[in-house]
Amino acid sequence: MTTIEAAQTPTRRTVARPLKWPILIFSPLVVLLSLVLMPDYSAYLDEVGYMLRVTARLAFALLMLAYIARPLQRQFGIGRTLVLHRRYIGLAMAFAHTVHFYYVVELALQTPEPLGWVTLIGGGLAFVLMWLMAMTSSDRAVALLGKQWRRLHTLGLHYLWLVFMQSFVGRLGPQDEYYLYALLTLWGVLGLLLRLWAYWSARLRRTT
Ligand code: HEM
Repeated sequence: MTTIEAAQTPTRRTVARPLKWPILIFSPLVVLLSLVLMPDYSAYLDEVGYMLRVTARLAFALLMLAYIARPLQRQFGIGRTLVLHRRYIGLAMAFAHTVHFYYVVELALQTPEPLGWVTLIGGGLAFVLMWLMAMTSSDRAVALLGKQWRRLHTLGLHYLWLVFMQSFVGRLGPQDEYYLYALLTLWGVLGLLLRLWAYWSARLRRTT
């Protein structure tokens, strides 16, 4: 590439991302609204449970948007806005799920039963991966980490997906909101199938 071509090639910085701030503000706004609109619970632990549910659902919705952005564009030619703003959607997800973490700590402090090891290690790893992904969500980190960046973000994305799916599938029993968990599970499974389809189509294209 010549110097002139390089100068004319749009970089991350020159591509407009008009929804950056609305996306970044969206997550704290939803958390704030949920606090304001919280039902009148008599016990503090019920309030913690409510916030755990709100933050988990918000984080999952944002994670799924980032999860399906690229395959949606590849397979159907739609979702360019999602792809362009994937980094900010990921950061908004990290904010919502950090609030989930805050309420997990609240729960642990307020209840006498200790958290099980599987929950601690499995859930803890998910938070650590998510924070590492958020900390490396910059052009500088992408350039610095190279292939490792891709590995970290692919692993983190799928691990978070897995923990969400395990939580929703575990709530599929005869509860009031089972239909909601069925829908959330379906969204996750369709997202995975879309990614697998995009992955295998790209591999096929390369070999033919
Ligand atoms: C040590 C780690 C964690 C603990 C102790 C924990 C605790 C909880 C609790 C107690 C609830 C239920 C609130 C209720 O129904 O009243 C909840 C909900 C949930 N959590 Fe966590 N959590 C942890 C980490 C995570 C992680 C890492 C994820 C996902 C990556 C996650 C996803 C969810 C989901 C999907 C729900 C269900 C939301 C709903 O009912 O719609 N949690 N969590």
